[in-house]
Amino acid sequence: MPFCKGAWKNGTVFMNIVVVGAQWGDEGKGKLIDILSKDVDVTVRYQGGNNAGHTVVVGEEEYIFHLIPSAILHKDKVCVIGNGAVIDPKALLQEIDGLLKRKIRITSHQLKLSACAHVVMPYHRILDGLRESKRKNKIGTTGRGIGPCYADKVSRCGIRMVDLLNPRVFKAKLEDNLTEKNEIFTKAFRYKNFPFKEIYEEYLGYGRRMKKYICDTALYLNSAIDDKKSILFEGAQGTFLDIDFGTYPFVTSSNTIVGGVCTGSGVAPTKIDKAIAAVKAYTTRVGEGPFPTEFSSGLKEEIRNKGKEFGATTGRPRRCGWFDSVLVRYSIILNGISELAIMKLDVLDDLPKIKICTAYKYRGKIYKDFPLDFEVLSNAKPVYEDLDGWQTLTRGVRSYAQLPLNARRYIERLEQLLKVHIKYISIGSKRDEIIVR
Ligand code: IMO
Ligand code: MG
Repeated sequence: MPFCKGAWKNGTVFMNIVVVGAQWGDEGKGKLIDILSKDVDVTVRYQGGNNAGHTVVVGEEEYIFHLIPSAILHKDKVCVIGNGAVIDPKALLQEIDGLLKRKIRITSHQLKLSACAHVVMPYHRILDGLRESKRKNKIGTTGRGIGPCYADKVSRCGIRMVDLLNPRVFKAKLEDNLTEKNEIFTKAFRYKNFPFKEIYEEYLGYGRRMKKYICDTALYLNSAIDDKKSILFEGAQGTFLDIDFGTYPFVTSSNTIVGGVCTGSGVAPTKIDKAIAAVKAYTTRVGEGPFPTEFSSGLKEEIRNKGKEFGATTGRPRRCGWFDSVLVRYSIILNGISELAIMKLDVLDDLPKIKICTAYKYRGKIYKDFPLDFEVLSNAKPVYEDLDGWQTLTRGVRSYAQLPLNARRYIERLEQLLKVHIKYISIGSKRDEIIVR
């Protein structure tokens, strides 16, 4: 029985689905995608870069992916990195080599990189760090050069994957970039010049290694859809890191919501059948920025240690807090979610009481919807509803009916508040530790 029952079209089950994070990233999308991708032909990353970190556990083996879709573990699947993503070739090739060391060889049939995706250059990484060091209000970026790379894309001076395959085009673009950038780096940041020749040769070398994977992924995806293949779009980061709808400016530089799929892959909205969101049974956030339900003490360490809440990309300890239904309800709306996956429910197993935030309060006013005023969001106090915990281990449970009564009460209360069907409940990190309703 497949996990995603498709719409019946011409007698064949196929469906194009999107999985996004409904909080601040690290919701456990990697595990959900790993499970769902069994039933699809192609998995696509459409935004973000190696700022993402997805952990997948197969048997005793743990894999962490930053750029390559986690579906690469399924041999017969195609993985695509679309035009909306940004690619750091050094990081990508390290990931490919790392898999090779574990006897997983990536062929050009398995991995397709968009010719139009922008390339993260060394000056992007350096600028990311320098900008952060100068800011009074730090964003807490991953330092991977993601923001500066997207900024160059929008400023129309970025370098695309296809440019690395044409030495003449690449030369002209790199020269222009270094002329401008070296001036800024030396004058504004007192940083040394970036040498043209070194970068030029290094990146042409990356181009040669990546050439077999680079193609027009928009054409590829649309012809795969015409051929009745199923596509899974794998979101990175989470809704509240979205450049438009997130807790700006404490966000990432791409559209993490479902809308990003279309611009980030060249697949039209009319071809997307369903959007699924992953949320943690509580909330976490890495980096700076407002977080109304953040634990003040005590529970912070307990949940962080139990949930192994340390960033897969930077190793930073994640900030932890209670489930925020104001936030997630907004996600459900923005992403058009019809099915929700609650991840890491087992992390709450020991707790005698569990809180759900149902509104915010600021200066005597109650906010039932996500407030856009930064002052309100930063200072609002959560209004909580208390539920009794279940204080029973849930890891071994495989059916909804077997879950402790109070765990089911928690799930059903979330469904009411969020107005969405909770279809998946994850109760451990292993592939089979999931309940499908
Ligand atoms: P996955 O895919 C959690 C956060 C950073 C920072 C902000 C901007 O594992 O869910 P950036 O380097 O993107 O400019 O940083 O976004 N951030 C993430 N937080 N999970 C991620 O990815 C993240 N990717 C970026 O911590 O607050
Ligand atoms: Mg992560």
